Amino acid sequence: MNKKIIGLAAASLLVSGAASAAIPANDAEKARMDAFITELMGKMTLDEKLGQLNLPPSDDIVTGQAIDSNIGAAVAAGKVGGTFNIKGAAKIRELQRIAVEESRLGIPLLLGMDVIHGYETVFPIPLALSCSWDMDAIERSARVAAVEASAAGVNWTFSPMVDISRDPRWGRMAEGAGEDPYLGSQIARAMVRGYQGDNLRNNDEIMACVKHFALYGASEAGRDYNTVDMSRYRMYNEYFEPYRAAVDEGAASVMTSFNLVDGIPATENKWLVDDVLRRQWNFDGFVVTDYGSIGEVAVHGLEKLPEASARALDAGTDMDMCSFGFIGTLKEGLDKGTVKMETIDRAVRRILEAKYKLGLFENPYKYNDVKREKTHIYTPEHRAEARATAAKTFVLLKNDGKILPMAKKGKIALVGPMANTAANMPGTWSVAADFSKYKTLRQGFEDAVKGRAEILYAKGSNIEEDPALEAAVSAFGRDMRDSRSEAEMLEEALKVAAEADVIVAAMGEASEHSGESSSRSVLTLPATQKRLMEALLATGKPVVMLNFSGRPTVMEWESKNVPAILNVWFGGSEAADAITDVVFGDVNPSGKLTASMPYNEGQIPVYYNHFNTGRPKNPANPAYQKFSSNYFEIPNKPLYPFGYGLSYTDFEYSDFKLDKDTLGKDGAITASVTVRNTGDRSGDEIVQFYIRDVAGSMARPVKELKHFERISLAPGESRTVNFRITPEALKFYNYNLDFVAEPGEFRVMAGPDSERLSELPFTLD
Ligand code: BGC
Repeated sequence: MNKKIIGLAAASLLVSGAASAAIPANDAEKARMDAFITELMGKMTLDEKLGQLNLPPSDDIVTGQAIDSNIGAAVAAGKVGGTFNIKGAAKIRELQRIAVEESRLGIPLLLGMDVIHGYETVFPIPLALSCSWDMDAIERSARVAAVEASAAGVNWTFSPMVDISRDPRWGRMAEGAGEDPYLGSQIARAMVRGYQGDNLRNNDEIMACVKHFALYGASEAGRDYNTVDMSRYRMYNEYFEPYRAAVDEGAASVMTSFNLVDGIPATENKWLVDDVLRRQWNFDGFVVTDYGSIGEVAVHGLEKLPEASARALDAGTDMDMCSFGFIGTLKEGLDKGTVKMETIDRAVRRILEAKYKLGLFENPYKYNDVKREKTHIYTPEHRAEARATAAKTFVLLKNDGKILPMAKKGKIALVGPMANTAANMPGTWSVAADFSKYKTLRQGFEDAVKGRAEILYAKGSNIEEDPALEAAVSAFGRDMRDSRSEAEMLEEALKVAAEADVIVAAMGEASEHSGESSSRSVLTLPATQKRLMEALLATGKPVVMLNFSGRPTVMEWESKNVPAILNVWFGGSEAADAITDVVFGDVNPSGKLTASMPYNEGQIPVYYNHFNTGRPKNPANPAYQKFSSNYFEIPNKPLYPFGYGLSYTDFEYSDFKLDKDTLGKDGAITASVTVRNTGDRSGDEIVQFYIRDVAGSMARPVKELKHFERISLAPGESRTVNFRITPEALKFYNYNLDFVAEPGEFRVMAGPDSERLSELPFTLD
């Protein structure tokens, strides 16, 4: 664990947790765990064993009634291994009490939740978080989430979601870290460390669950739950890395994905779960299915529930989320001989190990200290952390005439459907959020400029013209539709704009435009909002666009017509203040894109680390080129590339060099570049290094991110940033899936984004 983080946690975040069991650190501890579980399993009936493999939904119970609820009765009968998404320490404690005191063996429950980007203190959506490129901040965000969730009784989070995706039509891109395997792997590690802390020793450290294994982000056409089909070469080099990194960092559980892998649903894919995850990566935690995915096997066109359950168990999946296939059919399989007792025992052991590692056998109420819930959730320290982190995630896409930052003076028109909504600030998958506690952007602005400037507000338009579509993207209590006509709303907005010196347009997607089952085929600003934007621009006043989005959106028209664009994603519970901080220049924006922003939907998938083709377009000539790989209408490159983002200051790169140009088998080359802040305010820059393997035994990407550093520079200050290149950084999985570095010519590149790069050659001997 990163020492800096421990320091911070100890000072402001950690409660002194009761020391208890943890992920075994040595053979003796492991032997003690094994002996304990062997003894316990010796007492269990088959039904009790199958109960441990069962993860039913909780249907969020009410305190005191747990025993009467379906889940309470099932827990008392020993038919439940865990449940999830219950909010409230008292409710959870009551359910745990039933498990411990009323079931025959008193085995405690796993209590999960989708704590994806925070609990009540909500951090930006994971895609936004990744744009900070700040591993310490990301680790701390997971740490805060663990402190809060554990204080509310949760001991297991269904996070990190590490699915690489290059398709912004897919709404779940919001939950991941974008398109790059290297950056995604660093983030996966940071999040596991943040959640699991000191190996689950303390009562504010919760078990991570890496998901969705595997390849879920490659759903065809960006339609959620759709088919995935890809080569092993691509799996290993581009999609597997973040899962592997999370496992390597010690993630205690893994969730399978809904999609097919090689024609077989991931949940019952033995090659994937048993061979890759367990044997190749030495994963020794447990595997849970995604929601109902064993039941979906038949719908995919394979076996019915009993056979799918047997096959999933045999593949190495241990816990059944909501299909009731394990508890309902494995016994029958045992009688028929399609299921083996030792396979059931293997899964049961893994679930019990997880409970042991969490310390639940020592103290089943380890996570049920109801007092902590009052003192450790949504604290000022957590909120300050979320606010500071959110400000690092916004990406300044354009700032003509340096309209931003704005002065806190005069009259500012704040217009747009996202300007006055608290419920839309946190973003998708904020299960434990309490919208009543969060500020709207309007409140954030008003607080910040009080006594100095005037904020004139008008909503201007609805999110979508079609009420049914607006309802769909405003799920989970986020509905805010205005019953006025478009013309009435526009008229009000123009009145306000006419009075103002400058216009800030808070627009874009609603919270549930992204997330699960939120695929879009059109990624432009919804038409009603675009009409509002056109009218605002026609006033001739300066316009700043704040683009709310859970994915890269299509911004070609805006990039030509709107002078300043700040992409603010969904910034969490403190988003309003964080956006205000950046708009008025108290914080200098530093976020950089982790997913390419396409010209239009027809360009998807577009990503920086692509192969070259045999007929690449000549980059010196932007015109269409016959018999080259290109489009008639648009360039090959995205509108805004991976790694791109502006600042209120300017950075100059110089003196890019290598200390030598030949790399030996055990040697290293140091690449260095000097970065200077040439502007007049302090700022953070994310310095990026890429590598190209020029002639491999297989086609290699035109560039791959291999190193980055986030640095802070005062005006006039410069710093030299180094990248130590070792043969390890040059390795890839070859045709035989061996991880090798092949001798030959390479190039290393350095710069502020994946396009503006200086390049130098070197050779691996
Ligand atoms: C999602 C998972 C989530 C699970 C439990 C599923 O629908 O795909 O990401 O963890 O539900 O809520």
